[in-house]
Amino acid sequence: MRTPLIAGNWKMNTDSPSAQGLAAGIATRAVESAGAELLVCPPSVYLALVRDAIGNARVGLGAQNMYHEANGAYTGEISGNMLRDVGASYVILGHSERRHILDESDEDVNKKTVAAIAAGLKPIVCVGELLEEREAGRTAEVIRTQFEGSLAGITAEAMASVVLAYEPVWAIGTGKVATPAQAEEVHADLRKQLAERYNDAVAEQVRILYGGSVKPDNAGDLLALPNVDGALIGGASLKADDFIAIAVAASAACKV
Ligand code: 13P
Repeated sequence: MRTPLIAGNWKMNTDSPSAQGLAAGIATRAVESAGAELLVCPPSVYLALVRDAIGNARVGLGAQNMYHEANGAYTGEISGNMLRDVGASYVILGHSERRHILDESDEDVNKKTVAAIAAGLKPIVCVGELLEEREAGRTAEVIRTQFEGSLAGITAEAMASVVLAYEPVWAIGTGKVATPAQAEEVHADLRKQLAERYNDAVAEQVRILYGGSVKPDNAGDLLALPNVDGALIGGASLKADDFIAIAVAASAACKV
């Protein structure tokens, strides 16, 4: 059984008081969604603050990015060891905003994925097609290329700590959510690729999150899909009520 993972990607939002308040608000209500694993990914400068606000509540801590080197002269970068040191257990890698605004390649994402696993972090590796790629009928090919490139050299054993996230770029922050059929098609294909590249056990184990305009009113339908194992949430993760409502929907949709 795959425990649904409900992850909030706060992106470059919040400040100290609002990060603290949001984390505390989520922590207080975490018990409402016992069947789901909750995760918040604040900006790195607020990780320690958010860790303290979460306290002993059942909410995990993740970062939004990291550098692939362990330490050294890389001004402005943060390593996986540092993220672990400050209490993070997950790291989002290859988010579409990093791929398309900051020009991260599959090779960059791959190096970071390898380094994250080495540092003991669980990477959430994101893939997703642009609108023009979907319209050109290239979705499956784009996702396959990102999958292959981002996960190059990752062993079956290491895959146990990896989470995948399908985030169609055209659905991010636009209010245009993928239809359940569109999401399930890509998720099922990703699972097939896991089975082909690794084996059935890995394919059964790895969680594949959907991201892109997930809100309380559409979460139930998406999370009920056989190959959707959680959500990576942007805008709605900035409101404790919405985030918890999505987590409750995930708990209810829990597939055995
Ligand atoms: P929205 O939920 O705001 O569309 O963002 C999705 C996302 O990019 C999560 O990583």
